[in-house]
Amino acid sequence: MDVPLRLSATDMRELGYQAVDQVVDHLATLRERPVGGPSDRKEIEALLDGGLPIEPGDAFEVMSEAVRQVRDNIVHTDHPRFLAYIPGPSTYVGAVADFLASGLNVFAGQWLVGAGPAVMERITIDWLRTVCGFPATAGGLFVSGGTMANLVAIHAARTRNGDGHGHGDGDGDGDGDGDGDGDGDGLVYVTSQTHGSIRQGLGFIGFRPDQIRVVGTDAHQRMDVASLRKHIARDEHAGLWPTCVVATAGTTNTGAVDPLDELADLCAEHDLWLHVDGAYGAAAVLSERAGGLLSGLGRADSIALDPHKWWFQPYEAGCVLVRDESALLDAYSMNAEILRETRHGSAPLNYYDIGPQLTRGFRALKLWMSFKTFGLDGFQQAIEHGIELAEHAEKQLGGDRWEIVSPAQLAIVTFRPRVPGATKDQVDALTRRIAAGTLEDGFALILTTEIHGRPVLRLCVTHPETTARDIEDVIALLERLADEASRLRPGGSDPA
Ligand SMILES: Cc1ncc(COP(=O)(O)O)c(C=O)c1O
Repeated sequence: MDVPLRLSATDMRELGYQAVDQVVDHLATLRERPVGGPSDRKEIEALLDGGLPIEPGDAFEVMSEAVRQVRDNIVHTDHPRFLAYIPGPSTYVGAVADFLASGLNVFAGQWLVGAGPAVMERITIDWLRTVCGFPATAGGLFVSGGTMANLVAIHAARTRNGDGHGHGDGDGDGDGDGDGDGDGDGLVYVTSQTHGSIRQGLGFIGFRPDQIRVVGTDAHQRMDVASLRKHIARDEHAGLWPTCVVATAGTTNTGAVDPLDELADLCAEHDLWLHVDGAYGAAAVLSERAGGLLSGLGRADSIALDPHKWWFQPYEAGCVLVRDESALLDAYSMNAEILRETRHGSAPLNYYDIGPQLTRGFRALKLWMSFKTFGLDGFQQAIEHGIELAEHAEKQLGGDRWEIVSPAQLAIVTFRPRVPGATKDQVDALTRRIAAGTLEDGFALILTTEIHGRPVLRLCVTHPETTARDIEDVIALLERLADEASRLRPGGSDPA
């Protein structure tokens, strides 16, 4: 008798083998193909929308169709010449781990049904906490990405500091808001360079705009400690409740690392929680070239990491580490009648108690398998490679055609064209046209960000297979696009 929703063992094997072939062929030929470009929604919908399938189809045809439709209609963020945003180079081992975690359908939310995976997650977290310089009291968990990692930590900070830490607000409940509701009106300190997902996400977890202070930055786009000190003094004087400083270890715009040691000193002085958004850059703690910049990382109260960025894992994988794991318990512990038996046994490890999800997949497996396969040495080499190539790019851009706006920092370099006699507006327009040109060309992707209100081109080099030659070819492309953009102007001689 046919069982609904089941394939035969033979078909399961064959489908799996074909899927592996598809992925391996794709990866083996990726660098020969374009990075990809923008898509037209109407066109794609016309192409892909076949209506709700009622009758069964052939699993092999369905898979071929899926591969074609996905592969041909994405920009490959794991392409060696994808140098925009934060790229997503991923290990094949990580992808296999995702398949295994799904295939075994691991429920990684509670001890009773997922003891082995819970311990493997704890071990993987332990590796990361060691690398980041956190003490053995630290704990954490895997979440969907950097956005969630930051929010999970900041909510823990608010709960911890609002829960009897004595920030006098006059009502004696220590929550700082005077209303006795226990969650407080704490203030969070960020900068203009803090990732947008944090500013947006703070609203999601209940912070009002007037609870967010935007601290000044220094000439290198780092949090200005003097400015932070002034903000805190002013807020304390006003009887408000400074709660959490959000530093960044590797800003998305320029790779800048806030002065973590100085911030840790200031936070200790004022009993403030120091959260470090290391979603992009904390991985560079493995690099001897860059490690010094991150020396204060281990002094934070919490750190957000993003294994799907510079830890080379497939999407999704974020990670939050908290110096004192009990802060996560305080913030997230869940007491539901249906979970009673999950508390049995010796020291059960229930991830629903330290994070916001009950049902959750086994994200830790991909990093566990990748660490065991490549060793920390492999990761270190791959990270070092990106930093070296960004420095190589900076050197190549050092001539008279480009102005370096921010030097290579944690594998990011920003720059703009030099055009003698051109106005700022003309240079800015040309900068944007060059980036748009890479989107149309497809050979490589280099986009813009803004620094001091002006567009800059930005390279972020984290792919272990990007070569010095790729960087040189990409710069040649940018120069060609700059020339073409200048030539396209009526009269030709107008630089923008
Ligand atoms: C510094 C930083 N923080 C947070 C995020 C958000 O992470 P995710 O996109 O994984 O949610 C990013 C993403 O690029 C980032 O660069």
